[in-house]
Amino acid sequence: MEAKTPKASKSIMTDLVLPSETNPLNNLFGGELLARMDRAASIAARRHSRRIVVTASVNHVAFNRSIPLGSVVTIEAKVSRAFTSSMEVYLDVWIEDRESGECIKANEAIYTFVAVDETGRPVKIPPITPESDLEKERYEAALRRKQLSLVLAGKMKPSEASELKALFE
Ligand SMILES: CC(C)(COP(=O)(O)OP(=O)(O)OC[C@H]1O[C@@H](n2cnc3c(N)ncnc32)[C@H](O)[C@@H]1OP(=O)(O)O)[C@@H](O)C(=O)NCCC(=O)NCCS
Repeated sequence: MEAKTPKASKSIMTDLVLPSETNPLNNLFGGELLARMDRAASIAARRHSRRIVVTASVNHVAFNRSIPLGSVVTIEAKVSRAFTSSMEVYLDVWIEDRESGECIKANEAIYTFVAVDETGRPVKIPPITPESDLEKERYEAALRRKQLSLVLAGKMKPSEASELKALFE
């Protein structure tokens, strides 16, 4: 299979925060943001694999900044690394200042998707070649995050997590 680039999977979703999507402080409800990010990430994973994709894991979410009612929220999702059937998708979330139009980084998240066939069985996906410095940085760290996710899910023994062990050596 021919290698693709993270850019080829880039998916951008822009939407407003409406009153029904907020918490009692009038900020975007966390679960709503998770759902929006899941949708954007699944589109990126589909673009990379051109297969049916399912969410295997939410590896990391940082709700660093609250997102007020009425905000224009932009989610950018890109596949940061492709393994055999699984992909790491990196998400950056921005809010747009109403007056200046300036975009401020609000949150980021990392999801894992798996490409499957019509019966739900994992299938092989194309490799990925990162281009920019940031894409290369995310690509390099992705194997470590995959191993951590598998260890936490009880699918890998900590003693087999070579990348994690290397961190502490
Ligand atoms: C995701 C799913 C297809 C994985 O199936 P599985 O039987 O564990 O298959 P495998 O063990 O062969 O794993 C397939 C790939 O997923 C990866 N994977 C599985 N669980 C993972 C996790 N928790 N974190 C990171 N990667 C994971 C494996 O490492 C493997 O990657 P690779 O092929 O790139 O090396 C299966 O668990 C599933 O269908 N889950 C439900 C998905 C779903 O419905 N999501 C929506 C939730 S509402």
